[in-house]
Amino acid sequence: MQPEQLKDVLDRARQETSKVIIGQEEVIERALIAIFTGNHALVEGVPGIAKTLLVRTLARVLGAEFNRIQFTPDLMPADITGTNVFNLQRNEFSLIKGPIFTSFLLADEINRAPAKTQSALLQAMQERAVTIDRETHPLPANFTVFATQNPIEYEGTYPLPEAQKDRFMLKITMKAPARDHELALAQRTMTKQAPEALLADGQIRAVIAPDELFALREQLAAITLREELIGYLVDIVRATRQHESVLVGAGPRATQALIMASRASAALAGRDFVTPDDIKTMAVPVLEHRLILRPEFEIEGLSVLEVIQQILQQIAVPR
Ligand SMILES: Nc1ncnc2c1ncn2[C@@H]1O[C@H](COP(=O)(O)OP(=O)(O)OP(=O)(O)O)[C@@H](O)[C@H]1O
Ligand SMILES: [Mg+2]
Repeated sequence: MQPEQLKDVLDRARQETSKVIIGQEEVIERALIAIFTGNHALVEGVPGIAKTLLVRTLARVLGAEFNRIQFTPDLMPADITGTNVFNLQRNEFSLIKGPIFTSFLLADEINRAPAKTQSALLQAMQERAVTIDRETHPLPANFTVFATQNPIEYEGTYPLPEAQKDRFMLKITMKAPARDHELALAQRTMTKQAPEALLADGQIRAVIAPDELFALREQLAAITLREELIGYLVDIVRATRQHESVLVGAGPRATQALIMASRASAALAGRDFVTPDDIKTMAVPVLEHRLILRPEFEIEGLSVLEVIQQILQQIAVPR
């Protein structure tokens, strides 16, 4: 597959998704970057900003086998993974598989469930396998989790543990729509072109064949990342651990994530090589959820975003 073909497929996915999701171009782009690199993403935003709708639309566009788990305070780990049930007729235990056995999983409102339940997702996300009663069951090779959550100030009941957050390649932040987009949404709301109606009508189609997705992922590995840029990228991640206001910096998984995301960003632009701008743009969603500031700096009103911007300004771009 050539770079142009790669861009074609990505554009098709982008276009089909934007039939339902009005505006939010950057969000759609980042979601596709996670999907096309075979990674999990965390979608964050205030209530009613179309987080759930976005993930449902992506599932349709990808034609992936799809399940949704609504996280609630009383959700138990077994509600996610499944349970062994005694079968009287056959006189043996048999596994009733939980909703995690799918290709594309929407973990909706993930911070509404306690840590124990959230952690049932942990092993699955990293190992693409689930252990039930000491027996390990594999998940599909392309198993992908998209979790949604409201910002901490809104829910905050059970914030995700750090180890869990690190497993998400990107945090995708959805911001309030621009006026013209909100106007378009208002106008479409009562018509057959309402976002939900399009999805329900079956007007949104799968635009990617499963084998195409695999070919695409292989193609991403062929996108050139110059030696100096690898150094640049590593220095950015390492700087998060040395910054004076940071308590916990990003780990090596962030380095891997930034490499993949930068390559996918190049592919979306139709290039077969990574530029410093790809790295800078992707550093924000790759790093944001992995950093914890020292409390004294947080009280002063410093944000993780500002720290990332400072780091990007400090590190010289290789020529
Ligand atoms: N940019 C947008 N494009 C299309 N529809 C939108 C957009 N923004 C909001 N909506 C509409 O807002 C409604 C809420 O969407 P959704 O349920 O996905 O929100 P949510 O972010 O998951 O909210 P919650 O945090 O409460 O679960 C939907 O009816 C959707 O049609
Ligand atoms: Mg929702």
